[in-house]
This record gives sequence, C-alpha cells and structure tokens, in this order.
Amino acid sequence: MATRVQALALLLLFLLFSPAPAADSMSASSPVADGQTLVSAGGVFELGFFTSPASTSTARFLGIWYKGVAPLTVVWVANREAPITGTTASLAINGTGSLVLADRSGRVFWSSAPSNVASNSPVAKLMDSGNFLVQDANGTGPDLWQSFDYPSDTLLPDMKLGWHLTTGLDRYLTTWASPGDPSPGDYTFAIDIRGVPEGFIWYNGTAPVYRNGPWNGLRFSGEPEMAPDNGNFRFEFVANSTDAYYTFLVENGGGGNVVSRFVLNQSSLQRYVWLQQEHAWSLYWSLPRDQCDRYAQCGAYGVCDASASPICGCPAGFTPASPREWALRDGSAGCARRTRLSCTGDGFLPLRGVKLPDATNATEDASTSLDQCRQRCMANCSCLAYSASSIKESESGCIMWSSSLIDIRQFESGGQNLFVRLAASDLPSYGDSPSRRNTALAVVLSLSGLLFGLAGFFLWTKFMRNKGRRQSTRRLTSFDSSNPLAPVQDRNMDDESSESKGLRDVTLFDMPTIASSTDNFAASAKLGEGGFGAVYKGELGGGQKVAVKRLSKYSTQGLDEFKNEVVLIAKLQHVNLVRLLGCCVHGEERILVYEYMENKSLDKLLFDKARSAQLDWSKRLDIVLGVARGLLYLHQDSRFKVIHRDLKAGNVLLDGDMNPKISDFGVARIFGGEGADSHTRRVVGTYGYMSPEYAMDGVFSVKSDVFSFGVLVLEIVSGRKNRGMYSSGEQTSLLSHAWKLWREGNALALLDKVVAIGGDREPEEVRRCVQVGLLCVQERPEDRPHMAAVFLMLANLSAVMPQPRHPGYCSDRGSTSTDADCSLSCTVNEITLTVVEGR
Ligand SMILES: *[C@@H]1O[C@H](CO)[C@@H](O)[C@H](O)[C@H]1NC(C)=O
Ligand SMILES: *[C@@H]1O[C@H](CO)[C@@H](O)[C@H](O)[C@H]1NC(C)=O
Ligand SMILES: *[C@@H]1O[C@H](CO)[C@@H](O)[C@H](O)[C@H]1NC(C)=O
Ligand SMILES: *[C@@H]1O[C@H](CO)[C@@H](O)[C@H](O)[C@H]1NC(C)=O
Ligand SMILES: *[C@@H]1O[C@H](CO)[C@@H](O)[C@H](O)[C@H]1NC(C)=O
Ligand SMILES: *[C@@H]1O[C@H](CO)[C@@H](O)[C@H](O)[C@H]1NC(C)=O
Ligand SMILES: *[C@@H]1O[C@H](CO)[C@@H](O)[C@H](O)[C@H]1NC(C)=O
Repeated sequence: MATRVQALALLLLFLLFSPAPAADSMSASSPVADGQTLVSAGGVFELGFFTSPASTSTARFLGIWYKGVAPLTVVWVANREAPITGTTASLAINGTGSLVLADRSGRVFWSSAPSNVASNSPVAKLMDSGNFLVQDANGTGPDLWQSFDYPSDTLLPDMKLGWHLTTGLDRYLTTWASPGDPSPGDYTFAIDIRGVPEGFIWYNGTAPVYRNGPWNGLRFSGEPEMAPDNGNFRFEFVANSTDAYYTFLVENGGGGNVVSRFVLNQSSLQRYVWLQQEHAWSLYWSLPRDQCDRYAQCGAYGVCDASASPICGCPAGFTPASPREWALRDGSAGCARRTRLSCTGDGFLPLRGVKLPDATNATEDASTSLDQCRQRCMANCSCLAYSASSIKESESGCIMWSSSLIDIRQFESGGQNLFVRLAASDLPSYGDSPSRRNTALAVVLSLSGLLFGLAGFFLWTKFMRNKGRRQSTRRLTSFDSSNPLAPVQDRNMDDESSESKGLRDVTLFDMPTIASSTDNFAASAKLGEGGFGAVYKGELGGGQKVAVKRLSKYSTQGLDEFKNEVVLIAKLQHVNLVRLLGCCVHGEERILVYEYMENKSLDKLLFDKARSAQLDWSKRLDIVLGVARGLLYLHQDSRFKVIHRDLKAGNVLLDGDMNPKISDFGVARIFGGEGADSHTRRVVGTYGYMSPEYAMDGVFSVKSDVFSFGVLVLEIVSGRKNRGMYSSGEQTSLLSHAWKLWREGNALALLDKVVAIGGDREPEEVRRCVQVGLLCVQERPEDRPHMAAVFLMLANLSAVMPQPRHPGYCSDRGSTSTDADCSLSCTVNEITLTVVEGR
C-alpha cells in the first residue's frame, strides 16, 4: 500500500514540476509567442521564431525547422518579405481561420489567406511531415489552409511542386536571398504548364536558367540519373486535367525513415539526406552537373555534349548559324538548316539518347503510338520534330514541336530519342554507289547515343577520288575528330595521304592467305568463340603466328566503312591491348587478324583446376592492374572513347610473359554500321558479365564495362566463374557470395584456395581487389566508379575507398538459362550515319 501511495506522490510531483510537453497545435485561444514553439507529435519538426544563424541581422522570422538538427535547418518561412524587429510578435489564428503574425502594436507581418470554408473553431497543427495545417477543431472538415501549398526554398517528401489547375494554385520554390537571409531571392523553380509540363529554374521570374525536360513516365527527360523508385525515393509526376505537379516520397527502409529535403539554393537544385550516424546532411544529388545544363547553351538546334570538346555540335543537316562565334566556343547562336524544308518528302533524323528540347510550345497526345506520331508529324508541315511522350513500357504517345528546338543535350545513357524533320536531301542515307562517291564528300558520323556515349568518338571518311575537285572540297565542312557533331571550318586535309597514312599500319590480307594460314578454318585451329565470332590460330608465310577472327555474319557494314573501322581500331595501341594487324574482306566475309598470344586466354588458366595454381597472387594482381590500364585507355585516354561491351576472362589474353592484353575491343563498332535499319540490332554480351541495365534495358555506357570489369576482378580473386555458380541454387552467384563475405568482414575467404598469401601487404591487396570488384558491380551505374578511380584505388594502397552497396545481378530477371552466352535481342540506340553532302 505504502509503495503505491509513494508512487502516486512521485507521479504528482513529476507532473507538477516537469515542463509541459510542447504542444503540436494552436487555437484561437492559444497563440504562439516569440520564445514558444510547437513541436510535431513525433518530434520531427518544430515551429517558432528564429534569427538566421548565418546572419548578423537580428531580424526575427516565423519558420519551421527540423527539431534536434544542428545547425538550424529551416524548411519553411512565413514572413519572408517582412522581417520582424524585436521579440514581441506572436502567431494567432483568427475567427475566419487565418493565421496572423503580428506584434504587440498590432502591426501585421504576415497572414495566411482566409479560407472560403467557414469554421467555428479553427486549429493549426504542425504535422510530422513538416506541414502546418489549419483545420476545424472537430477534425472532419476539409483543410482550411496548409503551409505545403506555399513552399519556401525547400520541398519535403509529400509536398507538391506545381499546379492545382482548378484553383490556379501554383506551388514553386523561391531561393533565399542569401544563406542568412530568408527574404525571396532571384531564382525560382517552378513547373511550367504551357505546352508539355516541365520544370524550370528561372532567374528573376523571366530568364530560364535550367530546364529539366518533360516527364517521360519514368523521370524528367533531362535527369536520366533519376530512378523512378530506387528503394530510398519514389519520384512522381502527375499531369491530368486537375493537377500538374512533381512530388517525391521516401521509403521506409530497414534502418528507419530516410530524411531528405530538396532545396533550391541560388541557381542550384540540391537534394540532401540526413546521415543519422554522422549527424550531418549529405549532398545526395545536385544540379547543374555541367555546362550543358545551362538553358539553351548551344542555341536552337544545337546539341550539347559535356564529354565532347567543344561541347556544342550541330546534328546532320545543320551547320553553325554563326561560324565565327562557334569557332570561339560560343554556341549560343545555334545551328541552321542546310536545306529548307519542303514539307512533302521531308524525312526524320533520329537523335538518340538526348534530353528532349524545350516543350513550352509543344503539344502532347499520350494516346497514340510512336508510329502514328511520326505520321501525324509528317502530315503537318509546321511539325519540326516528334518524340514519344512516355518510355515507361515502350516508346508510346506523342510530343510534337512546331518551333525551334532549343536546349537539347546528349546523354551518355538514359536519354531519349528525338526525331528531327530534315529535308530529304539532308537526310543521312547509306548510299555510296561508285558514281556518287566521285562527287560527294561523305562524312560518317557516329551518333552512338547509348552505346558509345558519343563522347570523344569520331569517325569520318570521304570518298574523294576526283583530284580535280579537291580544291573545292576544302571549303566543305569536315568534322573535328574530338567531336562528331562539331564541324570545323576549312580543315585542309590531303585526302589521298591521310587515307594511306591510316592504312599504313594495317595490312589487307587476301582470303587465300588467311584460309591457308588457318587450314581452311579447321576445327583444330579454332582457339575459341567470342561474342562477335570465332577465333582461329593462323600461321603466315614467314612463320608469324596470328589470331584470326572470323566475324559473325550479322555485320552488314559496307566495305569502306569496315576498312575505316579497322583503321580506327588499329590506331588504338596500348601495351594492354592486343594489336590488330590487319583485316581481310572477301564477299560477305569480314576477318580481323590479331597478334597471337602464347598463353591464350585467361579463362583457360583461371578456371582450370590443374593450371590455376600457375597464377599466384602477384600475377593475379598484375593481371587486374593490366586490364584496368587497358580499359582506362579505351574509356578515357584513347582518341576515341571505346566501350568494349564484352569484357570477360575469355577476352583477356596473356602473352608469353603473362602480361594481360584485352582483345575484341572496338569490334562492337563494326556491328554498328547497318545504316537505315538501325533500330533493332542484336547485341551480344556474355551472361554473368552483363550489367543489369544492359541486360534488361539495353542501356550501355562505360559503366557497363566497369560492371564487367568488377565481375572479372572477383573471378580473378576467387578463381571461380560468375555464371558457373547460378546452377547451385538460390543466390549463390559469385557476386552475392562475395557480397555476403564482404558484409561479414571476411573478404579474404573469397580468395582462391590454391593461392597463398603472406605478409601485411598481400591480405590488404586482396581486400582491396574485392572491394573494388564490389564497387564496380553495384546495381546503379552512377554508383560505380569510373576506370580512373578504379585504377587509383587498385594501384594506391592509401587511396580512400567508398563502401560498396548491393551488387546487381543479371539473373534477377528470372532467366533460368545457365548455359553459354545469353544473347539478347535489344533495341540499342546506336546508329552510324553517312551524310552525303552535295558539293
Ligand atoms: C483574419 O485575418 C485575415 C487576414 O488578415 C482577414 O482577411 C480576416 O478578415 C480576418 N478575420 C477576422 C474575423 O478578423
Ligand atoms: C466540422 O467543422 C466543419 C467546418 O466548420 C463543418 O463543415 C463540419 O460540419 C463539422 N463537422 C462536425 C461533425 O461538427
Ligand atoms: C527583373 O525583371 C524585371 C521585370 O520583370 C525587370 O524590370 C528587372 O530589371 C529585372 N532585374 C534584373 C536584375 O534582371
Ligand atoms: C489527377 O491526379 C490526381 C493525383 O493522382 C488525382 O487526385 C486527381 O483526381 C486526378 N484528376 C483527374 C481529373 O483525374
Ligand atoms: C546551399 O549550398 C551550399 C553549398 O553548396 C551549402 O553549404 C548550404 O548549406 C546550402 N544551403 C541550404 C539551405 O541547403
Ligand atoms: C514559343 O513560342 C513563342 C511565341 O511564338 C516564342 O516567342 C518562343 O520563343 C517559343 N519558345 C520556344 C522554346 O520555342
Ligand atoms: C499543325 O501543327 C500546328 C502546331 O502544332 C497546329 O497549330 C495545327 O493545328 C496543326 N495542323 C493540323 C492540320 O493538324
């Protein structure tokens, strides 16, 4: 009994002397004075008066901030335009449900718009979402007012950015004037609903600074890195007859809610996430990414490619409108048509992998197919371009442009297809009949949007045979080798000599020589089978051993294109690349001749129980480093950015000293030259090495090569084939096995049993290789490092390395095939265009 009384007394004492728990709501009878705050029920947000910590001013503002987060992170401010002097102001709610912020003298600094719904007893409540909501006390009526409808510079989860069309409510972000001053700044981020809805950052409400492009069912066209649902965030865009808004939601992951805010910070859009452990905000994503994000950087019809130099280029059929400025790297004048449109008989030039142009004057019809869209655009002479309006399942719907195409940029991956109207005579055609060859300068331009990322690729060829006309061709546009889109003026090139120079290092073999060197492609001479064809061992007259690659038949490239590709590939020279010695063309046959590698391919050694012990740890590490070097060269250092597309142990050859050399690089390009019919193309990769985005969506970038490299590294460490493990039941692929060991802190257990390591250094090297391997095979391409970073992490034991996230798997699509290569028939956005230019 006594104890119960004591407990009661204690409770009473506690109730008497503990501070009252902060309220989450206010009513007409309980205003909030300066010094008091409201705290949301779950303790997430706090509302009250503050002085900006980053400012010397003592002005007071009413705002909402994260409770318990330092430094003060304000997400909403009421009286942005009227700072309060002194500390006598209070927030009250009046009879018509308006919030009124006034000081003792009755001066009103801010008030919320009165609601058109009458309420007898309005209350205002701070929610855990950060919303400040005015409702009737009975809690059943409609919301009378909410702060989410009047954003400051911050978008919180569930907040809507954009329009409620029936009421005309436009919700947009306005930057702070400066980090310490919440008064409205010069930049706003708003959804523009003229034409097809898209987001714009405006300067001074009038000048566009950035545009994120129309929503394509998955993401904004200008933000290819945006995953519609990445496990942490879900992004949504609603556009119907009553609403047009963007919103994002956070998912409740295993470790509790993700806390994230999206801020317009001057001209920069930034997404922050709260790191619970570090007690800090981390910048998760931000804009602008590069110069190409600047609105209309390359003017009308110009295409901006951040990885090219110069960044502005003109599509086929267009030339710089102002060549002088263009040459001075000012692309703002844009591009002009070579030939005026004639309406009838025009055609369409596909631009692959781009951000769709400004759609404020465009029209959308989501109900049609892409084919109908093309027909409609063709039938309307004022239609200048069209594209699909959704790429959610497949390309469907229709957007048509009828004014200049402004603000197009090229993406390495994740861009969309835009079809630009061109006069028939400007249309790239694939004809190179001998008669035309004599009079035309053909420029082959590889618009390899997704496959090769366009960057740094060049390809030109010409068929000027008529010496008498050489003078005049000098004035024709040729192409800057560093940028396929950028014409350079008046490059004086001697056609004959540049051709012979290109071919100097490449031998043209004839078929009898090749056939006899390989015993007529005898089965006994066969070394292996790659994604692009079979390889045979050959011996040339002087006893020189060569590897002969007989390309699969589905390369339909013309003879000259093929030779040009070979010349290009032959120019890629690096100690870690297999040398291409020459080629052979005979009827349909296309054959490549490589230097021969004594120790054949890595898979023959690595996965062979009897021979794998030959590869001790230091050899394995050398091989990893060598392959990394070779791939880095292909991706970055060579004159043309080359994506391998089929990197695997079978394509790493070892010379007499066990030096690794990558083979088969650049061969993918040879399959790029189908001309007109480039929409469908068989893409060959190897099961187990293919990145998820390639296997599933056919999206290709350097990061897909990085994925394959990661698989290769894990294979070299473990001595196990990635695909070989799928058969043994659930989730036992090499990647998940490595991931499991890594998370258990047991990376060394992955090491091949036949390899012995010792000392301090070697275990660290193994761990590093496993970590690099896992970083490279991460699910999201943007998480994977570039080869330059990979090489640094491998070569430098003190380089800082991020923690890998969950790896991606090809097998997740439910493929049950465990055998051989999985050849996918994908639509891959790769096209090689020949622009045949009249004199
Ligand atoms: C409440 O405040 C609003 C905004 O200042 C004002 O329009 C309205 O008349 C006020 N209502 C009453 C009953 O004072
Ligand atoms: C609650 O208040 C609203 C607004 O004043 C009113 O429309 C509604 O009828 C009320 N409901 C009840 C159950 O009192
Ligand atoms: C901002 O726009 C207004 C007109 O809307 C104009 O008068 C003013 O000069 C502009 N300010 C700047 C800095 O461009
Ligand atoms: C528009 O979309 C919003 C959100 O999904 C929905 O609430 C609204 O009812 C829709 N309007 C129409 C007319 O479908
Ligand atoms: C604005 O950006 C700067 C640096 O980019 C950062 O330090 C600052 O915290 C940002 N402001 C907000 C409100 O997030
Ligand atoms: C849209 O049309 C208006 C009026 O013709 C024009 O001034 C404006 O430049 C056009 N905008 C774009 C992006 O083409
Ligand atoms: C052609 O397109 C223009 C611009 O979109 C539009 O105004 C016009 O009505 C269209 N004409 C026809 C016949 O559809």
